Amino acid sequence: MAMSKEMGGTHAESHDTHGGAEHAHGEPHEPVFVGERRKQLDELLTRYPTKMAVLLPALWMVQEDRGWVSEAGMAEVAEVLSLTPAYVKGVVTFYTMYHQHPVGKHFIQVCTTSPCNVCGAEDVVHAFLEHTKCGELGVTSEDGKFTVIEVECLGACGFATPVMINSDFIESVTPEKVPDLLSKLT
Ligand code: FES
Repeated sequence: MAMSKEMGGTHAESHDTHGGAEHAHGEPHEPVFVGERRKQLDELLTRYPTKMAVLLPALWMVQEDRGWVSEAGMAEVAEVLSLTPAYVKGVVTFYTMYHQHPVGKHFIQVCTTSPCNVCGAEDVVHAFLEHTKCGELGVTSEDGKFTVIEVECLGACGFATPVMINSDFIESVTPEKVPDLLSKLT
C-alpha cells in the first residue's frame, strides 16, 4: 500500500471542506451492509476461514460506497464481523489507503520521493494543486471533486513522475499533461 506523506489524512482533516467527521454533521449513519452489499459480504464470508479475514474487503466496501471510513462505518464493520471497534480502528489507521476523513471524488497521489523529485515531481504537484483549485496538499477542492496528496515511492522510479488517480496508475506525468489528465475526469 502506498505510504501517504499526509499520514492518515490529519492534514486533510484539518482543512477538509466537507466539514470533518461524519458525527460533526449530526447525520445518523446509514448502514452499508444492507441489500446487495450484505449479499456481497455474505458471499465473501463463505470464501474465508474466519470473519476477521474479511475485514480488509469489508472496509474497502465502506470506502467505495461512502468515499471514506468514518467511526460509525468502522463500528458497523466491527458489528457485522464480530470484532471490537478498537481492533477495526487499529487496522484502518495502519493502512493509509483507508481515508479517515472525506476526500474529493478524485483522489490524486503524486510521488515526490527523491528520484522523482529530482525529475520535477514538485512541479507536477504544483500543477495539480493549481488546476484542481485545491491550492494546498490534503485540501479538497470547493466542488468536492479533487484532493491532492504527496506519497512516497510508487514503485515506478524510472517513469517520473508517477501519479495515482483513484485506482488508475499513470506514468511519466509532466506539468504540461496535468490539464488534459484532469479534463478526462468526470
Ligand atoms: S521514487 Fe517515485 S516512484 Fe519511486
